[in-house]
Amino acid sequence: MKLRPRINRWTNARRDLNFGDDIRSSLVQPHFVVAGEGVDEPIASMPGIHRQSSDVLLRTIAEDMKIGIHSHMLFAVLEDHQKDATGSAASSEDLHLLNVIRELKTQFGNDIVVMTDVCLCTATDHGHCGIIHNEEIDNDLSVSELCKIAVSHAQAGADYVSASDMMDGRVSAIRSALEDAGFVNTGILSYSVKYASSFYGPFRDAADSSPSFGDRSSHQMDIRSGYGEAILEAASDEAEGADIIMIKPAMTYLDVVRTVADAVTRPVAVYNVSGEYSLVMSSTSDESRGKMVREIFHSFKRAGADIVVSYHAREAVSRHWI
Ligand code: PBG
Repeated sequence: MKLRPRINRWTNARRDLNFGDDIRSSLVQPHFVVAGEGVDEPIASMPGIHRQSSDVLLRTIAEDMKIGIHSHMLFAVLEDHQKDATGSAASSEDLHLLNVIRELKTQFGNDIVVMTDVCLCTATDHGHCGIIHNEEIDNDLSVSELCKIAVSHAQAGADYVSASDMMDGRVSAIRSALEDAGFVNTGILSYSVKYASSFYGPFRDAADSSPSFGDRSSHQMDIRSGYGEAILEAASDEAEGADIIMIKPAMTYLDVVRTVADAVTRPVAVYNVSGEYSLVMSSTSDESRGKMVREIFHSFKRAGADIVVSYHAREAVSRHWI
């Protein structure tokens, strides 16, 4: 597999994110983007986080850029009538997310790092991360669909496509698809070590992506699995050409973060997930929350995280907690 180590060095913003030596430059703010205009809808289980239509989201991100948050992770939220068995809307040319990517790159160019989620769960009518065949998730059918999604995001200008599906072999397939389409500077952030965790609940409310039957345990990692499995997933994604290796969730897997960080050579990201966020948000005053978030961020860095994806990013920077 062709490796392209220059991808992480391509722009100043990418270099700051991957190699910056302060917590602030390592932060990534996640966003949920819905269709329509003027939509700014709070998510009950995630205080401070909203679902926003493109126009509102562009203003939100412009404010974030002003305070120094340069890296953004975008999740497309689809309406029920757009969903089908194969999640075809996720790779549609009309997807509202694509305009947001294009607009962000036009406005901010190389000063912004745009990361986009690549998965089928927000676009399938059954809510699974892949295509169902004979009542099971078909790995290889799903991978070819994921490649289409990744190429459409790259075409719109995404800096990193973020594969969160946990199908086998998807990193090398996406890398080849990007190469074939001529996108040699688009990075792949792989959710390499992603557990079938119970800390994703609020996200699934926000993204309307809960499975309508069954669960995600045939592809996401068993919470009881040990370091061998984590290293296997991380090292194989690295060999397949991933540019960033992610571990998720973060707070309950700090030992895994350290182990993986010692085993791979690519930058390591952690996802401080929705359930972790909600726990902190529901239990604190502003002042004690600031101290907690700072402590949590330091634990990620100490465990070896180069990049921290967190819903706390905006508040942490704007209130000078870090
Ligand atoms: C999509 C995806 C999920 C999250 C990120 N990408 C949900 C899941 O796997 O069910 C969770 C993020 C969070 O909880 O904040 N597959």
